[in-house]
Amino acid sequence: MKKIIKLILLVVVSSFLITSCGGKAGNSLTDIKERGNIVMYTEAGFPPFAYRGNAGSVEGIDMDISLEIAKEIGVALNTQDVKFTSLIPSLTGGKADFVAAGMTNTEERSKTVDFSNDYLVAYQSVLSLEGKGYQKISELADKKIGVQTGSTSDIIVSAEAKKVKLEDGTTVDGIFENTGTEIKRYETVLEAVQDLKNGRIDAIVVGSIVGDNLISNNPDINDEKLLDRDGKEYSESNAIAVKKGNTELLNLINKVLARLEETGKLDEIYKKHAESIIKN
Ligand code: ARG
Repeated sequence: MKKIIKLILLVVVSSFLITSCGGKAGNSLTDIKERGNIVMYTEAGFPPFAYRGNAGSVEGIDMDISLEIAKEIGVALNTQDVKFTSLIPSLTGGKADFVAAGMTNTEERSKTVDFSNDYLVAYQSVLSLEGKGYQKISELADKKIGVQTGSTSDIIVSAEAKKVKLEDGTTVDGIFENTGTEIKRYETVLEAVQDLKNGRIDAIVVGSIVGDNLISNNPDINDEKLLDRDGKEYSESNAIAVKKGNTELLNLINKVLARLEETGKLDEIYKKHAESIIKN
C-alpha cells in the first residue's frame, strides 16, 4: 500500500516537474491550444521571407503566413529568430512547433523533419557587383563565393569543391576542385552583401527570391540565374517544416496554405514584401 502511494506521488511530482520546466510540452494541436501560443522559429536576415522591419520586429512572407496559421488555431504567434543552422534542431528538439524561414524542402532534410506543400518556387541566383554578371557555376571557379552557412546554396557550392557524383552514377571532378575557389560562409546573407560591396568576396549564391529583393535595394549589385554544368537552373521549393510525424499540425498548415493560395492572399502577401527594404 505504502509503496503504491509513493509510486503515485512520484508520477505526480515528476509530471509536474516536466510540465513546469517549460520546453517539454509536446507540439500537438492540443498542447498548442493549452499553451495559448504557437512557436515559430525563423532566421530573420532573409528578406522578403523574414527580416527586421523598421520597428525592429520580424516581418515578411513567412511571418504573415505564420500569423494565418496561428489565427486558424486561435492562438498567439510566438516568433523566435535564431541562426539558420539552429532551425532544424529546434524542431527535432521539440522547442519549435514549426519553422517558416524560406526553407527548401530537400530530400536530405525530409529524413529528419516533415515539410508542408510548397508555397513558393524559386531557383538559385548569383549576385555580383554591377558589370560582372557571373551566371554559370564554372565562372565562379577561382573566385571568392559567399553563401549562408547550411543553406542549399552552401550545399550546391560545397559539392563542387570535391568529386561530384552524377545522376548516371559516374564520378567527375568538382568544378571548384583544385582551382583556388574560396567558399566563405556567413551566418546571414546580409553580412555577405556587405562583404560583396566591400570587395571581400566576388559573388554570393542565394535563392532567387532573396536575390531579387537584395538587388532592388542595392543598385550596385546585379543578379543572374545560376546555371549548373549542363546549363540548367537549380530550381527548389519553399515549404514549412514541422517535427517528424506531426501530421495533425502539418495538415492544418497545408489547409491554411491552400486557402491563402485559393483566395489570392498568398499573392498579396508576396507583393507586400517582395519590395521590402533591407536594414543595413
Ligand atoms: N532556401 C535555402 C535553404 O533552405 C535558404 C534558406 C535560408 N533561410 C533563412 N531564413 N536564412 O537552404
